[in-house]
Amino acid sequence: MYNEKVLDHFNNPRNVGEPEEQNAVGVVQSESCGDTTYIYLDVEDGIIKDIKFRTFGCAAAIASSSMLTEMAKGKTLEEARKISTESIVNELGGLPEQKIHCSVLAGDALKAAIDDYIANHKE
Ligand code: FES
Repeated sequence: MYNEKVLDHFNNPRNVGEPEEQNAVGVVQSESCGDTTYIYLDVEDGIIKDIKFRTFGCAAAIASSSMLTEMAKGKTLEEARKISTESIVNELGGLPEQKIHCSVLAGDALKAAIDDYIANHKE
C-alpha cells in the first residue's frame, strides 16, 4: 500500500516530540477520522530554526508530518506557509488516493502554528 519512502518516514519519523525552545504551536484534528497533529516551532528572526511534531494518526499522517518538518526547517515563515499538501505528497513519492486527506493534517497544523506565532509576536 505504501512506498519505501513513506514506510521509512513512518518507521523512523524525523523531528518527533517538542523542541527544547519553542514559541508557537499548531493543533489540527481531522474532521473525517478524528486524528490529530501538533506542530511545534522555534522561530528566530522570522526563520523556523526548529520544528517538531506529534501525530496521533495513521501511517500516512505520521509520514507526512515527518516529511513536512524536514521541508519546513530553515525556511522563513512565508516560505513555510506555501508548502502545499501536493508538495508533501510528491516529496513522499506519492500516497494511496484514499490517504491523501491524511497528509492535509500536517500542512494545516504548520499553518496553525505560524498563525499562533504571528498572533503572539505582534510588534
Ligand atoms: Fe486519520 Fe489518516 S486515517 S489521518
